[in-house]
Amino acid sequence: MKVAVIYASTTGNTEAMANAISDAVKAAGAEVIFSTADSANKDDVLSSDVILLGSPAMGDEVLEDSVEEFYSGIEGSLNGKKVGIFGSYDWGDGQWLRDWTDRLNNAGAVSIAEPLMVHLTPEEADVEQCKAWAASAIK
Ligand SMILES: Cc1cc2nc3c(=O)[nH]c(=O)nc-3n(C[C@H](O)[C@H](O)[C@H](O)COP(=O)(O)O)c2cc1C
Repeated sequence: MKVAVIYASTTGNTEAMANAISDAVKAAGAEVIFSTADSANKDDVLSSDVILLGSPAMGDEVLEDSVEEFYSGIEGSLNGKKVGIFGSYDWGDGQWLRDWTDRLNNAGAVSIAEPLMVHLTPEEADVEQCKAWAASAIK
């Protein structure tokens, strides 16, 4: 099984989530395509069995710019693809992930896990939650 973990992170918080997620996917024996959104290969990602996308809440509850750019580029090719989303936030209530979920649903993506959000820097318990989320997302 091939799993893409694609993310952006401005201060390392979503990156810490992505690392934990990637570790859990590898521990489950799957191949991981791990990349920041600004250098992700669209074909590699779209040929993955599961696509896990991470973005912090930015602007006013929107995706980080490079994730928005990458995601817009694959959005039209996600019909039937298994996708999970995650990211770090601060003061909001998760609106950016709800909006992203709507876009994924409109694109015909198959949701394989509830969106996962962590407040600011992942603590040890959050890292464990990321690992459990990833393990269940690729089942
Ligand atoms: C320019 C900017 C805009 C932000 N907008 C939001 C927002 O709309 N909602 C929110 O909950 N947090 C917002 N945040 C907080 C970040 O999502 C939070 O600091 C997050 O942990 C950053 O994750 P990262 O280190 O992976 O980039 C914003 C932060 C910055 C710098």
